[in-house]
Amino acid sequence: MCGIVAYVGKKQAHPIVIKGLKRLEYRGYDSAGIALLNGDLNVYKKKGKVSDLEAFIEEKNLSSTIGIGHTRWATHGEPNDENAHPHFSGSGRLALIHNGIIENYSSLKQELENKGHQFVSETDSEVLIHFIEDIRENNDCSLEEAVRLALTKVVGAYAIVIMSKDDPDMLIAARKGSPLVIGLGQDEFFLASDATPIVEYTNEVVYVNDYEIAIIKDGNLKIKNTQDVPTTPYIQTLDMELEAIEKGGYEHFMLKEIFEQPKSIADCMRGRLNASTGHLVLGGIREYANKLEGAERIIMIACGTSWHAALVAEYIFEELCRIPVEVEYASEFRYRNPVINEGDVVVAISQSGETADTLAAMELAKSKGAIIFGVCNVVGSSIARVSHEGAYTHAGPEIGVASTKAFTAQLTVLTMIALRVAHRKGSITERKYHELLVELEQIPSKVEESLKLNDKVVEISDIFKEARNFLYLGRGYNFPVALEGALKLKEISYIHAEGYPAAEMKHGPIALIDEEMPVVFIATRDSSYDKIVSNIQEVKARKGRVIAIVTKGDVLIPKMADFVIEVPAAHEALMPMVAVIPLQLLSYHIAVMRGCNVDQPRNLAKSVTVE
Ligand code: AGP
Ligand code: GLU
Repeated sequence: MCGIVAYVGKKQAHPIVIKGLKRLEYRGYDSAGIALLNGDLNVYKKKGKVSDLEAFIEEKNLSSTIGIGHTRWATHGEPNDENAHPHFSGSGRLALIHNGIIENYSSLKQELENKGHQFVSETDSEVLIHFIEDIRENNDCSLEEAVRLALTKVVGAYAIVIMSKDDPDMLIAARKGSPLVIGLGQDEFFLASDATPIVEYTNEVVYVNDYEIAIIKDGNLKIKNTQDVPTTPYIQTLDMELEAIEKGGYEHFMLKEIFEQPKSIADCMRGRLNASTGHLVLGGIREYANKLEGAERIIMIACGTSWHAALVAEYIFEELCRIPVEVEYASEFRYRNPVINEGDVVVAISQSGETADTLAAMELAKSKGAIIFGVCNVVGSSIARVSHEGAYTHAGPEIGVASTKAFTAQLTVLTMIALRVAHRKGSITERKYHELLVELEQIPSKVEESLKLNDKVVEISDIFKEARNFLYLGRGYNFPVALEGALKLKEISYIHAEGYPAAEMKHGPIALIDEEMPVVFIATRDSSYDKIVSNIQEVKARKGRVIAIVTKGDVLIPKMADFVIEVPAAHEALMPMVAVIPLQLLSYHIAVMRGCNVDQPRNLAKSVTVE
C-alpha cells in the first residue's frame, strides 16, 4: 500500500509526480497529495483518488522543477484531507512524505508538544518532520544531519522523502522496512516506492537499503547510513519494459495478467529448464543448494495467494524430495516463538517481496540460524535481499491486486526447485525426473488451452453473479486450488467464498448445502478422483448446484454436475497451474458483472508493507 513519487531536475515536476502516483494506484490508497516549490513551498492534498487531487490542483500555480507526491494507506488517523501527505514541519519550510509506521510517534509527539510544537494532523508522519526540524534547530546542524540523527531515534518502518524551501535543488530520502527506488536520469532524479513510475524515464536505478539516507543536491546523489558511514550507490539496470506496466488493450490489468500466463510460466523456465537434455539449473541457488538437499525440515512462509502456492509446494516437495514440509502463515509464525533448528530451511514466497509479515518472519528465522530461500517476483525487493539465496519468478510486473500470474509463476519455480533437489538427492528415479520435466515444459500450452474456456466461464459467471456465497472444494494438490479460487472470488467480487478440503464437507460445511449454494469442485482426474466423485454426489443429494472443473474427456462427472469446465490433462502435481485458470476467470467475470473495481478492490492493497 501507499505510494511515494518524487522528482528533481530540469523538467516540470507535477506531471511526472502525478503520473507516477497513477502508476502506483494498484498499490491501494485512500488519499493523495503533492508538494511543489516555486518560491513558496506549496502542499496540495485530498482524500480520495489521484484524479481528485489532479482536479483540485488544476487552477493552482504548479510550476516547479522539484516535487514530492504520496498516496496514503492510513495507519494513524482516518483518511481525510488533513491526514493526507505531504506534511509540513512546524515552520512550514520543510515538507515530508512517508510510507510506513513510526511506532514511537506518540512519545515523540508528547515531547514535541511539551516544547510548543502544534500539530494539524493525527498522523505519525507529521511528528517525524516536526522531530527532524526540532533537531536541526536545537543542534544548529544541516538538514541531512538532522534527518540522520532523527532516524537513529525512530522505531518503526519508513520510506521518506523530504524537501526544503531553503534548498530548491535538494531531496533527502531514507528507508527502513518500506521500499524506495531512485532512478538516475540526465541531471534529474526520480524516486518511487517501486520502479513502475521510473521505467519510462530511465532504466538506471539504485535500490535504497535499510538504514540508508540518500541526499540528492545540485545534481549529485550521495548515500550514507544512519551511522554517518558513506556508501557507494550500487547502480543497477532495470529489466522492466514500459509496456509491461500498460494494460495492452485489456479492460483490466487482472485480465491481461491472466492471459499472460502461458508466457510468464515459460519465462520462468527460460534458460533454466530443457526437458530434452534434462537440463535444470537455478542460478540463484548454488552456494546453499546442499542446505536444501540436506534439510531435515523445510518451513514455507507466506501470505495470501503466496501461502496457497506454498501449500501446493508442500505436496510437491514431500512427494518428490521426501523432506518434511511445514507451511506457515507468516503473520502467525512471527509471533508464536516458533521452534527453529539449525538444520531447518525456510522458503519465503512473495510476489511483491515487500510483505511486512513475511519479511519479519524471515528475519526471525534467520536470527535463529535458519537458511532462507526467497521466491520473489520483484528484483531487488526487500525479501529477495534478506534471503541467503533464492529464485526469481520472471512473471513481469503484476499490477492487479488479485494475484494471478504470480501464483502460477511461483508454482513453476517451486516445482523446478523440488525437481532439482529430488534429482540431486536421488529421491526420484531418472525416468520420473525426465517425465516431470517434459510435463512441466508443456504447461504453458495447457494453460493456453485452458484460457480458451473464457467464453464458457462468462456464461457460468452470468448465472452465478448474484450468488451470496460460494464453496470451493478440492482434494490433494487441488485442495490449495480450492482455497485460491475462493480467495480470488471474495477479494474482487466481495461474495463470501470458502475453500475446503472436499473430504471435510461431512464434518460441518455440508450443512450449508442447498439450492442457493454454488459449489465449485476441482475434480480433475488424479489419485483421489473416485473420492471426489462421491463428494459431488453428496452435494447433489442435498440439491447443491455443482460447477465442476474436470479433465477433458471425463464422462462420469458431466452426468452429475450442473456445469462442467474441461481442462487439459496434466500430471496431478502440475494440475494446479492448469485448474486455477478457469477459477481466475470466474472471479474476474463475476466481479466485472457486479461492477466491482477489479484492479483495485476496496480495502485491499497490492503490497501489504505494514503489519
Ligand atoms: C492475492 O490475490 C492477494 N493480493 C494477497 O493475498 C497477496 O497474495 C498477499 O498479500 C501476499 O502478497 P505477496 O505475495 O506480495 O507477499
Ligand atoms: N503511517 C502513515 C500515515 O498513516 C503513512 C501510511 C502509509 O504508508 O501510507 O499517514
